[in-house]
Amino acid sequence: MTGASDNPARPPAGERLCGLDELADPGAKGFRFRAERWLFAGFVVRSGELLRGYVDSCPHAAWPLAPVDDRYLTRTGEHILCAGHGALFRLDGTCIAGPCAGDRLSDWQVVVRDGAVWTA
Ligand code: FES
Repeated sequence: MTGASDNPARPPAGERLCGLDELADPGAKGFRFRAERWLFAGFVVRSGELLRGYVDSCPHAAWPLAPVDDRYLTRTGEHILCAGHGALFRLDGTCIAGPCAGDRLSDWQVVVRDGAVWTA
């Protein structure tokens, strides 16, 4: 199995993902990239000064986290929720409850530049 870091569909650094104004605060947005039979899925979380990107794969069973496009956060926007089996993550990617408590989401490096979010 190919890991997320050597997935040929993973976009290179410098790819524009979205305008910062397209991300609610707090909010999250998912992105999918395809290359032939490969798929890379990642999402970006924004809350105040925090902006982080993660590979959209739960450390529990590698399922995508959101049941619906862009619905990665709990209602309050304080945590990331995996709809698979209810794992709850802090916005820094650490799982604090559920079947993979103590594990982490895999980082997807992103940066804010010129009012937009880019891969880094
Ligand atoms: S796949 Fe996320 S909690 Fe099981």
